[in-house]
Amino acid sequence: MSPFPHRRTLLGATLAGAAGTPTPATAAPAPSPTPSSPRAWPIRANLKLEEELPMLEAVLLSIHVLTAIVFIGGSAVATSLFPRYAPVATAVPAGPSALTGSAPPESGERNVAVAAALHRISRGYAVIALIVPLAGIVLASVQGRMGEIWITVSMVLTAGAAVLLATQIVPRQRAALSAPGEAAPLRRLSMLAGLYNLAWAVVVVLMIARPGAQG
Ligand code: HEM
Repeated sequence: MSPFPHRRTLLGATLAGAAGTPTPATAAPAPSPTPSSPRAWPIRANLKLEEELPMLEAVLLSIHVLTAIVFIGGSAVATSLFPRYAPVATAVPAGPSALTGSAPPESGERNVAVAAALHRISRGYAVIALIVPLAGIVLASVQGRMGEIWITVSMVLTAGAAVLLATQIVPRQRAALSAPGEAAPLRRLSMLAGLYNLAWAVVVVLMIARPGAQG
């Protein structure tokens, strides 16, 4: 029994095609031919595949979701925190201000070592996170969903987020570490990190709501 009864598989179409009738994936499989029939072996192979596909889907979905949580999540948190710890040229005084007695909002938080670690996580985790779209595309192909709108939009958003990270966020982080400047570029970096995280939030909603899914 498949753990994904609501999901379509390519196999359903294959079996339906083998039987010569356009039945849906959930329909009963084609009647088994006699062992002497020339089509006996391909159909037996398909039936064996049918037993293995739900397991394959479960493994792919587990890899997809786990790597999304750990690596996209890690990279999203690191890009968000980087501007808070990145060094600036005009040193922020640590501790309460001598004049007002109140602590400045970011006192004591700027730390080059922490910022460098966050930069490595932003970049390194994102590289490993390429597993997420790869597993997602294989999973969508196995399920016969590749043309569905939520998959297409997710792929575009995933590619857009990757381009944003590679061409804007990581280079700006590197520049902020090698030549600390004003606080304004770090505010822009915060805004870009917000866009990066928004893309992932939209993709997760698409993954759950699946607008335009056929079955
Ligand atoms: C190229 C981009 C992607 C493709 C093609 C893709 C494809 C898929 C497919 C086919 C499923 C299985 C849906 C089902 O079983 O009915 C899925 C589930 C899921 N995906 Fe993706 N995905 C992509 C990107 C992402 C990203 C970037 C994230 C996270 C940030 C993500 C998070 C999830 C989650 C949490 C689920 C489980 C949803 C559920 O079972 O309710 N996916 N994805």
